Amino acid sequence: MKPVMGVSDIESQLEKLRAALRHHNYRYYVLDDPEVPDAEYDRLFRDLQALEADNPELVTPDSPTQRVGATPVSDFGAVSHDVPMLSLENAFGDDELTEFDRRIRERLDQEDEVDYLAEPKLDGAAVSLRYENGVLVRGATRGDGLTGEDISHNVRTIQSIPLRLQDSPPSLLEVRGEVFMSTEGFRALNQRMTDEGGKPFVNPRNAAAGSLRQLDPRLTAARPLEFIAYGVGVVEGEDLPQRHSEVLGLLKSWGIRISSLGEVVAGASGCVAYYERIAAQRSRLPYEIDGVVFKVDLRPLQEKLGYVARAPRWAVAAKFPAQEELTVLRAIEFQVGRTGALTPVARLEPVFVGGVTVSNATLHNMDEVRRKDVRPGDTVIVRRAGDVIPEVVGVVLEKRPSGARQIEMPERCPVCDSDVVQPEGEAVARCSGGLYCAAQRKEALRHFASRKAMDIEGLGTKLIEQLVDGDLVETPADLYGLTVDELAALDRMAEKSAENLVASIEKSKQTDFGRFLFALGIRDVGEVTARQLARHFGDLDALMAANEEALAEVRDVGPIVAAHVASFFAQAHNRRVIECLLEAGLVWPKVTPAKDEELPLSGKTFVLTGTLPNLTRDEAKARIEALGGKVTGSISGKTDYLVAGDSPGSKLDKAKKLGVTILDEDELVG
Ligand code: IVH
Repeated sequence: MKPVMGVSDIESQLEKLRAALRHHNYRYYVLDDPEVPDAEYDRLFRDLQALEADNPELVTPDSPTQRVGATPVSDFGAVSHDVPMLSLENAFGDDELTEFDRRIRERLDQEDEVDYLAEPKLDGAAVSLRYENGVLVRGATRGDGLTGEDISHNVRTIQSIPLRLQDSPPSLLEVRGEVFMSTEGFRALNQRMTDEGGKPFVNPRNAAAGSLRQLDPRLTAARPLEFIAYGVGVVEGEDLPQRHSEVLGLLKSWGIRISSLGEVVAGASGCVAYYERIAAQRSRLPYEIDGVVFKVDLRPLQEKLGYVARAPRWAVAAKFPAQEELTVLRAIEFQVGRTGALTPVARLEPVFVGGVTVSNATLHNMDEVRRKDVRPGDTVIVRRAGDVIPEVVGVVLEKRPSGARQIEMPERCPVCDSDVVQPEGEAVARCSGGLYCAAQRKEALRHFASRKAMDIEGLGTKLIEQLVDGDLVETPADLYGLTVDELAALDRMAEKSAENLVASIEKSKQTDFGRFLFALGIRDVGEVTARQLARHFGDLDALMAANEEALAEVRDVGPIVAAHVASFFAQAHNRRVIECLLEAGLVWPKVTPAKDEELPLSGKTFVLTGTLPNLTRDEAKARIEALGGKVTGSISGKTDYLVAGDSPGSKLDKAKKLGVTILDEDELVG
């Protein structure tokens, strides 16, 4: 029996639950320091939902359950901004930044260094949030700066925007900031869109802006939007402090998320140093930024400086080199990989993007080419973020020349003219030439020599090209017969480097079983699977004798991989290559086969982050795997342990939020 509650009991119970949920939201989004696991939050949320369902008359619009309104709106009303929403002047490079600071001091007639509030420039959409007596009553886009659109129904769905403020907020407060999508959220959303047959967004900014302009708030609620505030508009009932940095502190105390990277810096040199610090972190941040913003911190000085046209004189955006640019796609060509897979590659009019000149970009596969409908002659958006391979993210359809034709997968291999085959149900088309195809042979050799395989130092791509094109090497086993004289006769090879290369080929003969298996380049056998196979079977004869059934007993080996392994060893030419390699003198220490379940870390999933004091990433990974554990790249609900070293980055935060156990190197080793 449920105890009978009077109305005031119910009201106080409702208020308690709401206050608890608001508090946990604040801890999570604003302080980035959650107090309870997600499951506890969900439990409180369900309790509140249940109590409200029984007492619908007691539901208030600012209750945490009331984020998604019932009905879509028919259009967006206009909102006029009493204080205009301005834009920022840009500065490119240290000189322009220093010049900005010089102009400020000149106008202020001040010799001393000026204090600036510095923070990242988020790449999303600007919004204004209006709170009356602490309750969110309206959200609006920037529009043209004077008039925006009413998107109240959508901003309410964003979890990091509080519906009610805490700690005696002013009677009227307009908060300004950026709605954006994290890189991870964007990737997941695009995956979902394409899985559902929709068109992906070209970048997180478009995704954020598009999500805010939905008529149906249920759609917006399903988008991973976030909010960070950077300023205020109209404020009544509160005397704001002197410094902008203090205003931000107040916003935070009222429960509004501000940037965790904001800092007050002194003078031009402080600005330049901050710019460089953030630029160095850029690729590791969980969201995209396109620069940093500097604002004169003292508000009386801001007032003195005033505005030009649509931008304040007291602020500047120091931009990073663009990660996206437009260029013309000259042609789509096909590259042949190690397993014969044909990958479409975009040949571009060279364009400066992400700090380098790019003339080739990946198009991943034909599905992607069709989905993006990329055609030679098109003007395309090229993206190069951090050290990631440049890619074509989309087409500017308005600029398509008439007669631009879609391209088809070639029927014959562009390298060896063998048939291209695409088995039913497979996404990838492959050259059927196998090791007859020079492209596949080159890739197989490159893989064989790579760091995580046989680790043959000095055997680079250019050299492999020469070796294959000059018929000096056909299979990996031929590498072990190369002489110093043969090598020294090649282009750009001095006697000394030829000697070094022969020495490193010789050195690679002492290997381990896992590396050797990985080096063979069996389809779908990555380094982890190779190591599992090595551990499970212990020696080569046992592995080569295993049928598909026996192979599928190995952890992480499913029927498809088992079939690939079996068919690899069934082919006479592969056996011959292995024989030659063994004859050449390849050896490895004996492995004692072990059953998975007997290993101490069996069934446990690990993620590594940051720099460990003694072990390299590869060493830590090898240790974990040797004990039966599995190492993955990103934190999820399935992660058991995070091993964190120095400068751990966002994985550590995520692990904390998810309640994943965090270990340091000592704990891992000990
Ligand atoms: S301040 C009066 N701070 O950049 C200054 N803007 O080009 C108004 N933005 O529309 C803006 N991060 O959408 C400011 N930390 C930041 C920002 C930021 C992103 C956007 C904002 C604005 C545009 C200005």
